[in-house]
Amino acid sequence: MCGIVGYIGKRDVAPLLLEGLQRLEYRGYDSAGVVVNSPKSSALKMVKAKGRVRDLEARVPKRFAGTTGIAHTRWATHGAPSDENAHPHMDAEGKVAVVHNGIIDNASDLRTKLTAEGVEFLSETDTEVLTHLISRNDADTLEEKVRGALKQIEGTYGVAVLHADFPDRIVVARNGSPVVLGIGEKEMFVASDVAALVSHTRQIVTLDDGEMATIKADDFRTYTTSGTRTTAEPTTVEWEAESYDMGGHDTYMHKEISEQPDAVDRVLRGRIDDRFSTVHLGGLNLDAREARTIRRIKILGCGTSYHAGLIGAGLIESLARIPADAEPASEFRYRNPVVDPDTLYVAVSQSGETYDVLAAVQELKRKGARVLGVVNVVGSAIAREADGGMYVHAGPEVCVVSTKCFTNTVVAFALLALHLGRIRDLSVSDGKRIIEGLRKLPEQIQQILESEADIKKLADDYADAKSMMFIGRVRGYPVALEASLKLKEISYIHAEAYPASELKHGPLALIEPALPTVAIVPDDDLLEKNRAALEEIKARSGRILAVAHQEQEKADHTVVVPKNEPELDPILMGIPLQLLAYHTALSLGRDIDKPRNLAKSVTVE
Ligand code: F6R
Repeated sequence: MCGIVGYIGKRDVAPLLLEGLQRLEYRGYDSAGVVVNSPKSSALKMVKAKGRVRDLEARVPKRFAGTTGIAHTRWATHGAPSDENAHPHMDAEGKVAVVHNGIIDNASDLRTKLTAEGVEFLSETDTEVLTHLISRNDADTLEEKVRGALKQIEGTYGVAVLHADFPDRIVVARNGSPVVLGIGEKEMFVASDVAALVSHTRQIVTLDDGEMATIKADDFRTYTTSGTRTTAEPTTVEWEAESYDMGGHDTYMHKEISEQPDAVDRVLRGRIDDRFSTVHLGGLNLDAREARTIRRIKILGCGTSYHAGLIGAGLIESLARIPADAEPASEFRYRNPVVDPDTLYVAVSQSGETYDVLAAVQELKRKGARVLGVVNVVGSAIAREADGGMYVHAGPEVCVVSTKCFTNTVVAFALLALHLGRIRDLSVSDGKRIIEGLRKLPEQIQQILESEADIKKLADDYADAKSMMFIGRVRGYPVALEASLKLKEISYIHAEAYPASELKHGPLALIEPALPTVAIVPDDDLLEKNRAALEEIKARSGRILAVAHQEQEKADHTVVVPKNEPELDPILMGIPLQLLAYHTALSLGRDIDKPRNLAKSVTVE
C-alpha cells in the first residue's frame, strides 16, 4: 500500500527520493508526489502526479534543488486517484508538507470543523486535515506542532512532516503503519519499508506504535507522542540491496518462485537437532513444561498466510496431536472470540504489518492470551507485538503475490509441529522421518522447478478457461485454496477451491467441458477417494489437470511431483501450481508483479 520516503543530508534530494519511490512501487499505488526544501529558499517545492513514479519523474522540473525532502506513493482510500489527492499535502502558505500512510477515522468531523474556521481544502483526502492541524498549531517547535495535531486525530498513521521554518529536520510518527529510520554518514533517511533504504544504508531504527522521531542530517532522537524520550538502538538489516533486484528474471514473481530451494534451506538452517530428532526454536519463548500445557492452537492470518496457517494446523494436529485450526484474522477480530487461557494463538504474516492480523494480535494480548508470530519481515509490528515466534527467513518478497513466503511459512509450521510433537508424543523415529523429509525439500523443489517448460505448455493450454475449479482432500484442500487464489490474483481468471469430498454436495453441477478442474492427488491413504472424484468429473466430460505422485489415468494431464513424507506433501504440491498461475497470467499478458487492485502489505482495514 502507500509508501513513504524521506531524506535529509547534503545530497540533491529529488533523485534519491524518486529512486526510493521506485523501490516501493511493488507495494501497489495509484499516484505519487515529492516535496523538497532548499536551504536557499523559504518555500517548499512540490510536484505530484496521478499514475506511476515515472509520470511523476517526467513532471519534476530541472530546477528542483534541495537537500531535504519527503515523497509518497498513494493508494487511494479517501478520494479517487488524482493529482490533487496525491501526497504530499501542503497548507495554504506552502510551509508545511505531510505524507501519510494509514486512515484518519475522524477526518470528516475535523474537516467540517476546519472548514467552519475558514480553511480551504484542496483535496478530498483525510491527510490534508492533518496538514492544516499542524499548520494552525501555534506551538514553538515542529515537534510540538505535530504532537498537538496528532492528539486530535483518531486512526492509524505513519507520517512524515516537513516545515519550511524548521529546515534542519523531518519529524515522523507512527501509529499502526510502519516507519523506519535509515542511519547514514551525515545523512539520514526515513521510509515506510526498508526496501527504500537498503541501497543507502543497512543501519535502521524501527519506530514502535506511539513513537515519534526527529531526524536531522547528523542526528536523530525518538520519543513518545507524549514527549518522553525513548531509546532506539540501530539494527543491521539482513538483506543487501541486490536482494530487492530482479536478478536477471523477467518478473519478481519468477525470481521468488525460483529462489524457493535456497529459501527453504534457510528456514531449516541451524534449527535441526539430530540428537533428539527435533528442532530448536529458541525464539518461541515457550519452555517444554509450558508447551505441554497447551490444549489448543489457533492460527490467524489473511489470504495466502491464512492458507499457510491451514496447512500448519494440519501439521500440528498430525505431528503434535494438539487440536489446531486456522481462521482469517480479519474475521476473528470481529466476532468477539472466546479467548481461552490454554490456547496458544499463532499470528502468521509475511510482512508482519497486515492491519487485520496486527489488530487481532492486539485484541488477543489485551485479553491476556499468549501469541506467537510466524513472520518474514524481521522487526515488523507483529513480530514485536508477539510474545515469541519464529522468522521464516524467506528473504525480501517484492512481488505483490506471495510464493516463497508461503512455502517457507509452511515449512516453519512443520518445524513448530515437530518441536511440539517431540515434546509430547511424537516418537523418535517419526521425528527422524520428518527431519529426513524436510532435508529433501530443497532438492525436490528444484526438481519441480526444472519441469517449468512442461507446466508452461499446460498453462498455455488452459489459459482460455473463463473459470477453473481446484479440488483437494484434507491436506490437499488448503493447497487447492492457495492455488486458486494465486490463479485469480494474477491471471484474473475466476477460480474456486473445494474439498474434493464436497463435490457431490453442489459444485458438481458446474462441471462441463469448459470448466477445467485442477486436482491435488497425492499418493496417500486418500488416493482411491481422490480417484473417485476424478471419475465423477470425467463422467461429466470435465477436463482434469492432476498434480500427483504418479500419472492419473482419468486426468487429461498429470504433473508428477516427487514424493516426500505425507505430512510434507502439501509443500511440494503447491510449487507447480505457482508456476501454472504464473504462466497462465504471462500468456494472458498480465502485469504479474502488480496485479490490479492489490497491494503488497495491507496496512489499513
Ligand atoms: C496473496 C497474498 C495476500 C497476503 C495477505 C496477507 O498472494 O500475498 O493474500 O498473503 O494480504 O499478507 P501478510 O502475509 O503480509 O500478512
